[in-house]
This record gives sequence, structure tokens and C-alpha cells, in this order.
Amino acid sequence: MKFFIDTANLAQIKEAQDLGVLDGVTTNPSLMAKEGIKGQENILKHYVDICNIVTGDVSAEVISTDFDGMVKEGEALAKLHPRIVVKIPMIKDGVKAIKYFTEKGIKTNCTLVFSAGQALLAAKAGATYMSPFIGRLDDVSTDGLNLIEDIRIIYDNYGYETEILAASVRHPMHIIECAKIGADVITAPLSAITALLKHPLTDIGLAQFLADAKK
Ligand code: E4P
Repeated sequence: MKFFIDTANLAQIKEAQDLGVLDGVTTNPSLMAKEGIKGQENILKHYVDICNIVTGDVSAEVISTDFDGMVKEGEALAKLHPRIVVKIPMIKDGVKAIKYFTEKGIKTNCTLVFSAGQALLAAKAGATYMSPFIGRLDDVSTDGLNLIEDIRIIYDNYGYETEILAASVRHPMHIIECAKIGADVITAPLSAITALLKHPLTDIGLAQFLADAKK
């Protein structure tokens, strides 16, 4: 399973990259705003800065909601760096735009997916990645992991190559459950990824080994 980090924070992206387990980055307009990145020029530069830190795919989201706007924006984003993946919302014109980019050989990430039907459409349009938001489903009392299970079955039934990118991951158990189900990718905050490191028995065992080594 690939590990993507879900942030636009350069220090956190570098920390995850240095850990040696990072396969890519996802961003969205809210995450960019959180870092105080404003204005088109700064936003585009920030994407390039991210691409220069990591070795994997970097999702950059369009903010247009019409086909022509998404195509124009997505083409400009794709030109920034070979690692850019154009992130497109699951709306009617978004599906058309994904198909357009697929035919042009430009990678896409279909975002804001909340149902199996939406996931099926994204795969049929040829999305490289398709992002179901499991945490936001959990927030409205709907099991996000059930959706990942359903999509896994559907994609396997037909051999769709679109990768299931579990998004809106909130904690380490989300990551473990996604791995059990067979999600292709998870995108998570650094805190959820580093939480996988922790176990009290590891700390106790290490303290004992270090103490015994001094004897
Ligand atoms: C995915 O690509 C999104 O950026 C992200 O995972 C959304 O997460 P949130 O629901 O925690 O905002």
C-alpha cells in the first residue's frame, strides 16, 4: 500500500520523505490556505516546491467547476512538474475533464468521492486515483471503510486500474483497516503516519536492552 501525506506543509512533507516511506502528497485548497499560500503565482510555486522535496506523485487541485476551466487549469498544473497529478472534483464536468486528461496521458485524482457509484464513474473515465473521503463519512455516521470495501469489490470485478486512494484518514486504525481491505493508497496527516511507529512494549523493551547493554 502506498503512503501519501495529506498536507501542504513543506516541513512535514520533508519529515515524511526523510522517514523513507513516502510515496506521494495530496493537497487541497483548504490545506494550501492553512499554510497561508495565497495568489496564483505563490500557489503554483508552492506545488513546485513540494515536487522538489518528494519522489512520488503530487496532487494539485483545480478550483474551476466547468469543463473548459478545469482543462485550462489542469493543463497549466500538469506543465509545472512531471510529478503533478491533476485533482478534479467528482462532478459532471469533472468526469468529462478526467476522461479528457486520461486521453492526453495526464494523471488525475478524482476527489470528493462519497459513494460506490461515483467511484465507478471515476474508474470508467480513467482516473489514475480515486479518493473516497472516509473520515468525512464517519463524521456523518456512515462507515467510510465499508465504502472502501465496496469499491475494492467493484474494481476487482472488472479489473479497473484506477487506484483506490483512501482520503480523509484521521488516525492509525484507519490506515491499518485500509491495508486489510486492500486500498491501493492512503493519504494521511503526518501524525497518523508516525502514530504507526508507537507501541509501549517497544519503548519498554528498548529501555531494557539499553540498560542491559551497559552491564
Ligand atoms: C484528500 O485528498 C483530501 O485532501 C483530504 O484527505 C481531506 O481530509 P479531511 O476530511 O481531513 O479534510
